[in-house]
Amino acid sequence: MTSLAKVMHQDHQHCDQLFATAEEALDQGQGGEQTQRFLKAMARHFLAEEELLFPAFEEFTGMKGMGPTQVMREEHQQMRGLLSQMQTALDQNNFKAAKRPLETLLILMQQHNLKEENILYPMMDMHLGGPELMGRLAQVLEG
Ligand SMILES: [Fe+2]
Ligand SMILES: [Fe+2]
Repeated sequence: MTSLAKVMHQDHQHCDQLFATAEEALDQGQGGEQTQRFLKAMARHFLAEEELLFPAFEEFTGMKGMGPTQVMREEHQQMRGLLSQMQTALDQNNFKAAKRPLETLLILMQQHNLKEENILYPMMDMHLGGPELMGRLAQVLEG
């Protein structure tokens, strides 16, 4: 069976690739489409975690409103702030401004993803999974 950790790790890599493509395009003074694709993938990833995986984990462990998922939710909010700055800049066709949050965003993403990959996802894999959750996860990630 495919593990949650594997699926989510792959989606991190997918988002990282879209980040790189968007950055490259923005560097050349374009990249609206590429950046939009990146923003959508990030939104879907956060949604999959916040609406599916974290609640399942919180229910199992009884750690709601605290513990590792709460920290991850707070970090998502930090990243959402930067992502929405990018979206606003894109809406104004201001590619230079859209690039500005990238450096901070990359650092936050790397630190966040490592915590999930090394700690949270393996913990989830010990307790969660099953075809129903995996099916719903695939649905959300594919949009
Ligand atoms: Fe996350
Ligand atoms: Fe994640």
